[in-house]
Amino acid sequence: MDTGITDKTYQHWHLEQDEENFVWLHLDKADSSTNTLSEAVLTELEDALNHLHRQPPHGLVICSAKKNGFIAGADIREFTHFESQPAALDAIQRGQRVFNLLETIDCPTLALIHGYCLGGGLEMALACRYRIAEDSPETRLGLPEVRLGIHPGFGGTVRALEAAGPLIALNIMLTGRSFSARAAKKMRLVHYAVPQRHLLNAARSMLRNPPKQAPLPWWLKILNHRLLRPWIAKYMLRSVAKKAARAHYPAPYALIDLWQRYADDREQMLREEAVSVANLLVGKTAQNLIRVFNLQETLKERGRKGEREQENKPKYVHVIGGGVMGGDIAAWCALQGYQVSIQDREHETLGRVIQRAFGLYRKRLKKPRLISTTLDRLMPDLPGHALARADVVIEAIFEDAGIKQQLFREIEPQMKADALLCTNTSSIPLETLAEVLEKPERLVGLHFFNPVAKMPLIEIVRGQNSTEENVQRASAFAKSLSRLPLPVTSSPGFLVNRVLMPYLIEAVILAEEGVPLKVIDEEAVDFGMPMGPIELADTVGLDICLKVADILSQNMDISVPERLRTLVDRGQLGKKTGQGFYSFKKGKPIKTAANKDYIPPVDLQERLILRMVNEVIACLRDGVVETADLADAGIIFGTGFAPFRGGPMHYLQDRGAQQVYKMLEQLQQRYGQRFAPDAGWQPWLEQEEGNG
Ligand code: NAI
Repeated sequence: MDTGITDKTYQHWHLEQDEENFVWLHLDKADSSTNTLSEAVLTELEDALNHLHRQPPHGLVICSAKKNGFIAGADIREFTHFESQPAALDAIQRGQRVFNLLETIDCPTLALIHGYCLGGGLEMALACRYRIAEDSPETRLGLPEVRLGIHPGFGGTVRALEAAGPLIALNIMLTGRSFSARAAKKMRLVHYAVPQRHLLNAARSMLRNPPKQAPLPWWLKILNHRLLRPWIAKYMLRSVAKKAARAHYPAPYALIDLWQRYADDREQMLREEAVSVANLLVGKTAQNLIRVFNLQETLKERGRKGEREQENKPKYVHVIGGGVMGGDIAAWCALQGYQVSIQDREHETLGRVIQRAFGLYRKRLKKPRLISTTLDRLMPDLPGHALARADVVIEAIFEDAGIKQQLFREIEPQMKADALLCTNTSSIPLETLAEVLEKPERLVGLHFFNPVAKMPLIEIVRGQNSTEENVQRASAFAKSLSRLPLPVTSSPGFLVNRVLMPYLIEAVILAEEGVPLKVIDEEAVDFGMPMGPIELADTVGLDICLKVADILSQNMDISVPERLRTLVDRGQLGKKTGQGFYSFKKGKPIKTAANKDYIPPVDLQERLILRMVNEVIACLRDGVVETADLADAGIIFGTGFAPFRGGPMHYLQDRGAQQVYKMLEQLQQRYGQRFAPDAGWQPWLEQEEGNG
């Protein structure tokens, strides 16, 4: 029987009806490589579902025509446009309505999932009666909304709880983690995880003989009981509070609250789910986290642009210097699929590189076969034979201009004519290093952060001689390493270290004044930093901090505190030696509580944070980064700066430039010149005046 659905034509959905009267809705969002649920996609789906409600087929399959996956989530760009809570509520209720239509259609419905199935995508799948996911490493299912400061709103909270039970569902939503098809099957989020070649058959056979829905086992269901909920909620709230303060990240709290109050009544819970998400969505945290997401996309796009304009993609990477950085950079490049050779002066160093790489791969890849094929791509190369075939050469040897120049003199004649030369220097001007090169334009800075496997940012340093093309190639390379490329100019400290250093130094000055270390760290964490500055300095290594501080102090108005120098002189370098500002036990700092009646200085937090903000302004004045948005992105991804505040420049604008400027002036009066507002403030003050 023909449902007549194929007479319809849509921009984003392709419709198909087969001989068994199964209707297939293939989502293929126009002008986009990834499927997201935009207003337009939902409008068309609503129309199709309304039609199918009138003439139900024998079965309905929702699937994706995109290679990379099912649906990656809601269209986040649309989230920033809501002017009020009612407008947001309207949009969410609309999404709920569409998914309710899908849920109530009078035929078996099935979501056929491959690749990304996240957020709104999984919510849609949960509104289908059945879900089959492709069992492949690319398949990822999850509800990551909490990372954007909200929780699922298209009925996903309710349906995830019904499918997986409260403990698992709340855990999925509170952590925002994503899962493989098999893990999702274990958690009852999908019914089957099957290899790609069986997907279509599995779907058809499920629609032909729709199995009965297995109810949730009693031991999972009972946790929803109204007498148990307050206890479970209390426990969950406690563990959430350890990770995120309610004032900074309200979404997880709202989610637990929603479940605790309304889990008895599906209809009411759906209504309240929408209200809760609308409230969160127009709040500052969600808007700032969405901003951070968009900043991340901006950086990725820089890399993609480089990729598009590149004729030959690099294949071989040669890293010189197998120390802390070079070794980990080489290991990371191999993990990301490159053929990598790693050169050092010493055998033992190369042995350690392979050992560390093995540890990383074991953690990330788990399966022995994957670990060994990845290790096969990482080749120790003491004499540097592989240099001649490399498309990208990364130098990560000692931080000494003379030694680096000597190396460049030796290697350039051996390199391929079009190979890109990158340096991981953190302080030497690229122009100095390029002096000895025949082709100075081929040198670009690729400034990785430590630890390489954890830090998402790479500063792409443009020297005066680096060509635009090579900067783009370096950005594309960074993107291919699953890293965010941030273009910066070659100036001392680039962006991230330059901004971080005054903050770390202020923390040490506070310590010298007698403020307990724990109090200093707590104030920074209260502001929203992932780790306090003292612990951070100990973790990075005090020798490295001192070196960067010494270099920066040649150009910037910072004086290096004596206490830092003394600790380094004593060999107390922080975590790696077990003693720095803190003593370390099993890799954790021992933090002594402050005296009970100790009262911290009222301006402690301001002193730490505003030194950073002032330095960002200085970087913008110097043109180290192009825009305030890029500065925010760099500081968030390079230092972990409180994401819910949207970055230092956004924080400044949010608080009011005038107000922050005045605060700096007061601090200058109290503590001296290091707080003097930078000369670059003027445009920001004027902009605010202009905005009224
Ligand atoms: P490291 O001292 O741990 O390692 C340097 C390695 O280079 C040593 O294994 C040494 O044997 C090798 N080496 C020296 N000269 C060589 C040559 N001519 N040929 C072959 N190998 C040679 O140094 P680290 O910390 O890994 O730093 C390397 C570079 O990365 C430096 O430019 C540093 O400024 C930069 N950097 C360091 C960061 C850190 O946190 N350690 C962060 C970002 C950049």
